[in-house]
Amino acid sequence: MIEVNCNPEIDAKKTAGILREIAKDKMGGWVNLPRKNDMGEFVRIKEAAKKINEESEYLVCIGIGGSYLGHRAIIEALRPKFDTEIIYAGNSLSKRELDFALAKVGDHDFSINVISKSGTTLEPAIAFSEFKKKLVEKYGEKEAYDRIYATTDKKQGALHDEAVAFNYHRFVVPDNIGGRYSVLTAVGLLPLAVAGVDVDKLLVGAAEAVETAVEPAIKYAWMRYALGQKRYDTEVFASFEPATMYFNEWLKQLFGESEGKQRQGILPTSVIYSTDLHSLGQFMQDGRRNLFETIVGYPTDELNRKVVQAVRIAHTDGGIPVLDIKVPSFDEKGFGELIYFFELACAMSAKLFGVNPFDQPGVEAYKNELKRLMAEE
Ligand code: PA5
Repeated sequence: MIEVNCNPEIDAKKTAGILREIAKDKMGGWVNLPRKNDMGEFVRIKEAAKKINEESEYLVCIGIGGSYLGHRAIIEALRPKFDTEIIYAGNSLSKRELDFALAKVGDHDFSINVISKSGTTLEPAIAFSEFKKKLVEKYGEKEAYDRIYATTDKKQGALHDEAVAFNYHRFVVPDNIGGRYSVLTAVGLLPLAVAGVDVDKLLVGAAEAVETAVEPAIKYAWMRYALGQKRYDTEVFASFEPATMYFNEWLKQLFGESEGKQRQGILPTSVIYSTDLHSLGQFMQDGRRNLFETIVGYPTDELNRKVVQAVRIAHTDGGIPVLDIKVPSFDEKGFGELIYFFELACAMSAKLFGVNPFDQPGVEAYKNELKRLMAEE
């Protein structure tokens, strides 16, 4: 069970109202998802993963933001013994990165999982078109299309339409779940299962958290809000496990996109210690005092625990509020709990700041500008 070390003042009535609002929101489908995951879809995911494992040395996962960060975070953290290795593409427009990924696949057998809820985001669309070309050249159209797994909207969007037209394997991003809250849907579960992560255990952890994470999430959300009302406008997520770097990235996206709107929110940033004690450590100890630190404390060995203690004491002495989130286990179950805990805490926190946790108008703004510039060419 996740534990937090803070005891902020909590308005119980307001909290109950917010919890109700989140669960009823048209984008609140993730709230009860771990308890009633669509078993039919889950079986299809496992079957698809088995087929990919049998046929492919690489699975090219194409997606950006909420369409890739969650599953990448878990895969990088748990370092499963890859049945099929995952290669990521479509999260930038860098030709260098795309060429690198194409070269890495080389002549190996591969399949593609293209993930885009809207089905229109440019970065994944461009990477998909390149990898699809390679797939068709290698296998011919018929087999190529049987190696494409599209995770997208149930009824609409360019990717949906293409998947129907060419008979790709299709998985659904539910209407009522947005990208950054979607890791426990097919968005995350298919690549995770392919990589050899135990998705059953992940869902068990998340399902337990539907009950056990509520109280700690409430405390943490109110604590963030209280700090945000003072001079603390920056939260530094600190982890002492280098393999969780992408979990930090997922956290930044979750909080940044959910909370940073209408000139509100706390800027999320992150560090990996000890590495960053030798870069940002100086600022943390002694720089401008507008930040607080949230230690995401994974179970660790004795030596690493010493540095956690040292940091906690030194940074508290340095005038930084230090919050602790204790993660029960460094495995699928622990990450299942952690994901649910942070999703709930984040949605609550955004509501406390008075903003909608589930939209991302700022992201749409850049997407539209990019499309406009591309159309001018
Ligand atoms: O959390 C979100 O909603 C965003 O980060 C999206 O996941 C991201 O913009 C990608 O969008 P799409 O899946 O529509 O390509």
